Amino acid sequence: MKETAKRLLYEQAVGRIGRLIARETDMIAVMATVACELHHAFSYFDWTGFYRVAGPGLLKVGPYQGGHGCLQIPFDRGVCGAAASSGRTQLVPDVREFPGHIACSASTRSEIVVPVADSRGKLIAVLDIDSDQPAAFDEIDRANLEELCGMIGRLA
Ligand code: SME
Repeated sequence: MKETAKRLLYEQAVGRIGRLIARETDMIAVMATVACELHHAFSYFDWTGFYRVAGPGLLKVGPYQGGHGCLQIPFDRGVCGAAASSGRTQLVPDVREFPGHIACSASTRSEIVVPVADSRGKLIAVLDIDSDQPAAFDEIDRANLEELCGMIGRLA
């Protein structure tokens, strides 16, 4: 997708989401809204959703759009576990090159996972987005999704 088109789509989607979740504090409602709006805004998003911190070192699936997502992911596995344990966004151009990638779908080629921390800096979830396109995600995705995850965390 051309950079200008992607930037415009994010400007529209993040603005729309911001208005929708502005005063919501129920995280399931917030995550469901974000997953829905993002998934339908970007054609290259083939799985869009959250994994929530469900206990020490454990993520459990939250609201998502797309095919079946695995229900639990320990912090020491997968791209989601790497984002949760490092606290850093994982931008993966080719999932086949990522050691320990968990393939919920055989068609996934690239992935981005962004940590979500609350206002005290405590990790509460990760936002996971898969694409069937190779190298679908770039710094525009990273910057906008991190901004969005910051917005979500401030509501928690
Ligand atoms: N690919 C993720 C697992 C979640 S499915 O993609 C929805 C990972 O490696 O952590």
